[in-house]
Amino acid sequence: MKREELIKKYIKFFESKDHAKITNASLIPENDPTVLFTTAGMHPLVPFLSGQRHSAGKRLVGLQRCIRTGDIEEVGDTTHHTFFEMLGNWSLGDYEKEDAIKYSFEFLTKVLKIPVERLAVSVFLGDENAPKDTTSAKVWEDLGISKKRIVFLDKKENWWGPAGETGPCGPDTEMFYWKKQEGEVPEEFDSENENWVEIWNDVFMEYVCDFHSYVREVKGPKDIEEKVSTIKSEQVEKSKKRKVDEPEYILAKQKNVDTGMGVERTIAILEGLEDNYLADMWKPIIEKIEMLSEHAYDEDETVTKAMRIVADHIKAAVFIINDCVVPGNTEQGYVLRRLIRRAIRFGRVLGIEDFTTKIADAVYMIYKDYKLDVKKISLELQKEEDKFLKTLEQGLRMFDKHVSRGKNISGKDAFLLFQSYGFPIEILEELALEKGLNVDVRGYEEAFSKHQELSRTSSAGKFKSGLADNSEETTKLHTAAHLLSAALNKILKREDGELIEQRGSNITAERLRFDFSFDRKLTENEVFEIETLINSWMKTGKDVIRKEMSLAEAKKIGAEGIFEDKYSKVDKLSVYIIDNGKISKEICSGPHVESLKVFAGLTFKITKQKSVGSGVRRVRGELLKG
Ligand code: SER
Repeated sequence: MKREELIKKYIKFFESKDHAKITNASLIPENDPTVLFTTAGMHPLVPFLSGQRHSAGKRLVGLQRCIRTGDIEEVGDTTHHTFFEMLGNWSLGDYEKEDAIKYSFEFLTKVLKIPVERLAVSVFLGDENAPKDTTSAKVWEDLGISKKRIVFLDKKENWWGPAGETGPCGPDTEMFYWKKQEGEVPEEFDSENENWVEIWNDVFMEYVCDFHSYVREVKGPKDIEEKVSTIKSEQVEKSKKRKVDEPEYILAKQKNVDTGMGVERTIAILEGLEDNYLADMWKPIIEKIEMLSEHAYDEDETVTKAMRIVADHIKAAVFIINDCVVPGNTEQGYVLRRLIRRAIRFGRVLGIEDFTTKIADAVYMIYKDYKLDVKKISLELQKEEDKFLKTLEQGLRMFDKHVSRGKNISGKDAFLLFQSYGFPIEILEELALEKGLNVDVRGYEEAFSKHQELSRTSSAGKFKSGLADNSEETTKLHTAAHLLSAALNKILKREDGELIEQRGSNITAERLRFDFSFDRKLTENEVFEIETLINSWMKTGKDVIRKEMSLAEAKKIGAEGIFEDKYSKVDKLSVYIIDNGKISKEICSGPHVESLKVFAGLTFKITKQKSVGSGVRRVRGELLKG
C-alpha cells in the first residue's frame, strides 16, 4: 500500500464515523515553550484535551507531521526517523474506550484487511494510580481476539503521556501485528518477541498528571542485606524510604481518546518490508542518492547507513524549513543546522558534495500534498551547504592535526571549530569518537557561554535548549552508566558463568540507555538490588579520577571497556576510576563528573527494560530528585 492510500483510507473511515478532519499543524508548537517540535498527533490538541472547546467538534481525525530529535544518533538503522507522520482519531469527551477499540478493530480488519490471526493487543495492568483495564480486554475478546493474544502490561509499556511534564495522560491499549511472513503465527502473544510490531496505540486520556512530593516506601526483597554485601543496612533502610517528587494522577473531568498510527511503520508492515527505507516515502530519495553517488544502497553497511542518514536528515530539514525555521545557533535553528551539516558529512562518506537541494527535489515529489515552499527551502539548504563547505576542508584539516597527534580536543579548540569552521559540537564528538579521541564538552560550553555573554546575542536559556545534549545532566548520566555497568556485574549472574559485557550505550540529558549481554528479563528484585547498590555508591561521594594509559596497561589493571578495536589505534586512552577502582574502572572517552558528591539529592532508577536482539538486554535509567 502507498502512503497516500493509507492516509486517504484512514481519514475517510473516520469521517464515515462522524469525525471532522483537522489540519496538519506546524512542526513548531504554537503554545508550548517546553518543547522544540511537535512530537505526536495529540500535541497540538492539548488545550482541547484539557477541556477547551474545539471548533470542529468532539470527534476529530487527522494526519500530523512530527519531529523527534531524541534519537538522532540512532538514525541509520531500518526504523528510526527524525521526521515521520502520524494518523490519529480523537474523542474530546465524546466516545470512550469501547467505541475507540471497535473503530480500531474495524479499520484494521475490514479496511486494511489484516487477518485477525495476525493481531495481538496489550492493555494496562493497573497499579496504585489507575485500575487494571479489564474493560478494554473484554472489548477485544468480544471482537474475536483470543485471550492468549491479550496481555496486561505495566505503566512503562501501557501508559501514554503527558506530552510535556504535566497534563492529560492515561492507560493505553496497543495493537501488534505479526510481521514474519513464513511459518505459523504463534498462538500466544509475547510482547518481547520482535516479530510482533506495534502498529497503533489507543490512549484513554482519563487522567491529568501533576507533581506531588511525598515519602515513599520502596518495596524490596527481605534478604537484600545478605545479597548485597557492599551496602550498609542503614543505607538500605534509608533507600527504602525516600522523599520523592512523584507524578500524581488525578481523574480528569473530561475523558478523551487519543490514538496514533505511524504512517512509515504501518506501510512497511503492510508491504512486508524489513527495512522502512524501501517504502514509497523513502525509495525515491534513496534512488536519487544512489544516482548522485554511483553507489548501490545495499553495497555495504557503511553505504547503507550513510544513505539512510542523508535521506532522513534532508527530509526532516525540508519540513523544518517549510515551517519557517532557518539554520541558526539556537533552538530549532540549531537542530536544523545540525541535521543539514550531519547530512553533508555523511554525503562525504558517499563521495557526494553540493547535493542537498537535489535530494530535496526527491522529497518534494513524494509530499506533493503538502504544497511545500520549494523555492524557500532550496534557497536555505543551498545557503547552509555553501556556508559549511567553505570552511569544512579547513576545519577537517585542523581536526586531522589533532588526530595525527592523538590529542584530545580541548574546549577552546572545540569552540574554535564551531565558531570558525561551523562544526556543531555533536558532529565533532562523533568524528572524535570514530578516532578514539575525547572532546572536552564542558570546556566547550564554558567557552560558548563566555562568548555569548560578551556578544550578548542570545540568552543562556536558549543556548541550553539548543545544546541540551551536553549538559551537566548528561555528564552525570555518563558516570551513572559506569556505576550501572559495575552494579550489573555484581548483582546479575549469567547462567554460562560469563561476565556481563556492555554492548552499547546512548545518553541524553534525560536518561541513559545501556545495552549488555544478558538473555532474560531482570526480575523486580534484581532491579531493586541494582538500584540500591548504585544509590549506595552515589552516597559515598567518592572521587572519579581520569588516568591516561595504554590499552595494555588498562587491561592489566582490569579496566572494563567494549571499544577495543577503536582504542587499539591510539597510544593513550582514558580510564575512569571510581573509589580507587573499588567501585569501577572503565575505559571511556567521557565526559564524567569528578566526584560522586554531585549525585547528592538524586536517586538512580531503572525505568524500562527490553530485549534488543538475541542475548542483549537494554535498560533505561534516570536520575530522579529525592
Ligand atoms: N500520543 C500517542 C502516541 O504518540 C497516541 O497518539 O503514541
